[in-house]
Amino acid sequence: MLIRRLLWLSVCCGLAVCEHNGNDTDGETTATHPLLLVSFDGFRADYLKMYSFPHLQNFFSDGVRVDHLTNVFTTKTFPNHYSLVTGLYAESHGILASRMYDPQTNKTFTIGSDDPYWWDEATPIWVSVQNSGYKSAAAMWPGSDLKIQNHTATHFFHYNPKVTFKERLGNLTSWLKNDPEVRFAALYWEEPDRTGHMYGPDNTAEMSKALREVDDNIGLLMEQLQQAGLWGRINIILTSDHGMAQCSQERLIKLDSCISRTEYLVVDLTPVAAIIPQNSTAVSRVFSLLNKCHPHMKAYMKADIPERLHYKHNDRIQPIILVADEGWTIIQNGSLPRLGDHGYDNSLPSMHPFLAAHGPAFRKGYHLSGFNSIDIYPLMCHLLGIPALPNNGSFVKVRCMLVNETCADLAVTVGVVIGVLIVLTTLTCLFRLMKGRGPSPSRPFARLQLQDDDDDDPLLD
Ligand SMILES: *[C@@H]1O[C@H](CO)[C@@H](O)[C@H](O)[C@H]1NC(C)=O
Ligand SMILES: *[C@@H]1O[C@H](CO)[C@@H](O)[C@H](O)[C@H]1NC(C)=O
Ligand SMILES: *[C@@H]1O[C@H](CO)[C@@H](O)[C@H](O)[C@H]1NC(C)=O
Ligand SMILES: *[C@@H]1O[C@H](CO)[C@@H](O)[C@H](O)[C@H]1NC(C)=O
Ligand SMILES: *[C@@H]1O[C@H](CO)[C@@H](O)[C@H](O)[C@H]1NC(C)=O
Ligand SMILES: *[C@@H]1O[C@H](CO)[C@@H](O)[C@H](O)[C@H]1NC(C)=O
Ligand SMILES: *[C@@H]1O[C@H](CO)[C@@H](O)[C@H](O)[C@H]1NC(C)=O
Ligand SMILES: [Zn+2]
Repeated sequence: MLIRRLLWLSVCCGLAVCEHNGNDTDGETTATHPLLLVSFDGFRADYLKMYSFPHLQNFFSDGVRVDHLTNVFTTKTFPNHYSLVTGLYAESHGILASRMYDPQTNKTFTIGSDDPYWWDEATPIWVSVQNSGYKSAAAMWPGSDLKIQNHTATHFFHYNPKVTFKERLGNLTSWLKNDPEVRFAALYWEEPDRTGHMYGPDNTAEMSKALREVDDNIGLLMEQLQQAGLWGRINIILTSDHGMAQCSQERLIKLDSCISRTEYLVVDLTPVAAIIPQNSTAVSRVFSLLNKCHPHMKAYMKADIPERLHYKHNDRIQPIILVADEGWTIIQNGSLPRLGDHGYDNSLPSMHPFLAAHGPAFRKGYHLSGFNSIDIYPLMCHLLGIPALPNNGSFVKVRCMLVNETCADLAVTVGVVIGVLIVLTTLTCLFRLMKGRGPSPSRPFARLQLQDDDDDDPLLD
């Protein structure tokens, strides 16, 4: 019927507002524009407000700025870099901390490990790119030099912190320039994380020096891409893994003052400790000693770790975990290991990184307050035109950054849909009213109605 059809039409219109605007890609765009993902380790979101970044400002004034990303727990380097390239929570990609123990294999992981075993629970985007028939390039991105799912990145460096930013960038740029099959490139730099750990984020003199260097490196990146003829043709996502919190000698949690070292094994210590009770029949005793150890440290039995942390369903998570409050440091005995740290609860703003994006796919001068860092993965797959593997991210939350997407305000969309419904309801009522008052319908009218019904069916299929 007419009403049914109108209603259907209005639903279509409503949906269209949320749907892609025409062809996904403008075809050629996706096919020919490579994607570069850059991480400046430990770039806390609010550094953007506290320090000046002339080059970065330049970068996002002509692109997209996102104030803060909610990253994944634990807010450590390896878990978050792997989440960026898989779209998975740590419990689902298997890189859960900087130090891990796997009870199945009796293997131990540290950030120096070169055993791909740890990474094989997921498939990073560069491997998917290669499986789709393209090439990838990576300069020191965590994991890119290991044979994950039997593949390193196509072009890569073995991890070496001594290779300067300029050298990493120079190599990456020439890989991109000289090998047109390279679709995806990833670049990693250790600052401002290194300075944040060493001096603490509250040391504004040291931080501003380190951040000026980071900004200069962003300037260098823009310049080199320009020289290679890539600027304006390449899509760039510039982000980080986590933020940084100030630690203090006054905020120490000493396990030795609560429990004997003979009662437990430490896999990882701070700010999230992974604890294995020595005597498996004494788990509850160890737990209760740790649970009442310090008001600024929470203890969880594995089964009781809060769902929102998405940090439970993996064999590499130990029977007891301890989570320090922001700025507190867990030690066994001794003194403060470093003035700045991260790894804390991912709901803390101090743990959040920012994001900036630039390139033909992105809006210019666009600003968003935030989304989840795992949402970057479906965005990247979309930009690359490759299928996304099962992941925890959402493209819906990031698509507004793209120039090809029509993005009405959610409130406006809902308003329009409600408005249309009100009009339709009114029309229905009027129609019924008229029908009720008028003389009984003549045969031709009834036939018309019947025909209308017939027409409707294919539409509704
Ligand atoms: C988008 O455009 C490409 C190339 O022009 C075409 O092959 C593809 O079928 C289009 N997709 C849609 C959904 O229209
Ligand atoms: C596990 O590995 C450690 C050293 O890496 C070794 O001492 C221990 O015996 C191993 N345990 C088992 C059950 O294989
Ligand atoms: C791993 O990749 C190499 C080539 O890169 C190939 O020759 C080999 O068969 C692969 N192994 C497996 C188990 O897929
Ligand atoms: C590539 O990196 C190496 C160091 O590993 C460096 O010697 C070389 O100059 C770099 N190449 C470019 C083009 O920057
Ligand atoms: C383990 O704990 C249980 C219960 O507390 C105790 O009876 C047992 O002796 C302990 N075993 C060892 C090896 O300490
Ligand atoms: C902790 O260290 C201090 C000095 O470094 C030492 O005096 C004390 O005995 C240690 N405590 C334990 C339980 O090891
Ligand atoms: C995250 O995604 C993986 C892969 O699809 C899935 O197995 C897991 O259940 C998801 N986690 C959540 C919390 O939805
Ligand atoms: Zn980091």
